Amino acid sequence: MYLKLTEGYEAMSNPNIAIMGATGVVGQEILKILEEKNFPFNNIKFLASARSAGKQIDFKGRTYTIEEARPEAFDGLNIVLASAGGATSKMFAEEIVKRGAVIVDNSSAFRMEPDVPLVIAGVNDDDLKNHRGIVANPNCSTSQLMLPLKPLHEYGNIKRMIVSTYQSVSGAGKDAIDDLVEGTRAVQNNQSYEPGKFKDYPIAFNLIPHIDVFVDHNYTKEEMKVVNETRKILHLPQDVRISCTAVRVPVHTSHCESVSIEFEKEVTPEKAREILSNAYGVEVIDDPANSKYPTPLYAAGKDPVYVGRIRKELALDNGIAMWVVADNLRIGAALNAVRIAEKLMEMDLV
Ligand SMILES: NC(=O)c1ccc[n+]([C@@H]2O[C@H](COP(=O)([O-])OP(=O)(O)OC[C@H]3O[C@@H](n4cnc5c(N)ncnc54)[C@H](OP(=O)(O)O)[C@@H]3O)[C@@H](O)[C@H]2O)c1
Repeated sequence: MYLKLTEGYEAMSNPNIAIMGATGVVGQEILKILEEKNFPFNNIKFLASARSAGKQIDFKGRTYTIEEARPEAFDGLNIVLASAGGATSKMFAEEIVKRGAVIVDNSSAFRMEPDVPLVIAGVNDDDLKNHRGIVANPNCSTSQLMLPLKPLHEYGNIKRMIVSTYQSVSGAGKDAIDDLVEGTRAVQNNQSYEPGKFKDYPIAFNLIPHIDVFVDHNYTKEEMKVVNETRKILHLPQDVRISCTAVRVPVHTSHCESVSIEFEKEVTPEKAREILSNAYGVEVIDDPANSKYPTPLYAAGKDPVYVGRIRKELALDNGIAMWVVADNLRIGAALNAVRIAEKLMEMDLV
């Protein structure tokens, strides 16, 4: 039985929660957001690999000891916010669900499973009602696109979309951040540097048009995540054509996306601006005459998805082109995970 409350614990206004992957970049951001939101909990625990077990972590003025993620560590929990990679989620999801908790998973392990809701809070909350213990958090590039796309789609009906991403290194974890920072320092000091993450090409002073492995038709898995996850979240029919090119750029935090959309109905730039100005979680910065548009540095550390450069897409019928920027660690992972946990509690689904 998946949806049972764990006996002996308080009502869901104060769940027992765990952060699995608490030492990682997404885990650390989750901690920040829980603290900022003053997220209510009864008990909290911090889980990571055996490498981190026994180390200390500070949260809300208290020091906690990190535990190794093992099946028994999930006893008595209601919600597990997981950001410890797909293999770890696959290893523990069944144990977590068996013990009566819901896992909100940041990895790609379960996103396309038919009985796992893939949710952006504020976009497809109703899908949460079908959860069987696992809720998946979309890929960071998909996530930031959904908040602006949903209201535009409701107005004009998407027919076709082409996305090019400019993804920051923090999207690839802590080793990738080191490659940018240490690699840049090494180039400046004319020294050599052994990369931890980007083994084929340096990321410092470079761009890499290759994220995750190559799959069908020489698209990458990252690119196909944008295609397939967008369809699942917005419940789009298969004949809506989407394609993506994903590029890693030497930026610390925030992903940017150049997005061209063809709609069934005409959507003028003025209408798109009006829709997006009223959209949940979206902020429009669009004043080209004064060089006002969102940049990754501006978006880092902030919650909204920023949209700018809204204009007519000259190459498509009823087309709109726009520039979408958001903090990949927040809306692309941690913030949406915490918002999902809040929704689960609000909707009495824990
Ligand atoms: N970064 C992003 O923008 C982003 C966005 C969306 C989704 N995600 C997904 O979120 C997950 C984490 O990404 P990240 O960027 O935070 O990676 P990261 O910085 O490399 O952190 C990985 C975390 O997983 C833990 N871990 C590794 N193996 C484990 C095991 N066997 N048992 C328990 N914990 C284990 C690590 O603990 P130790 O410190 O002990 O090794 C660390 O806390 C990935 O699935 C990633 O695809 C990331």
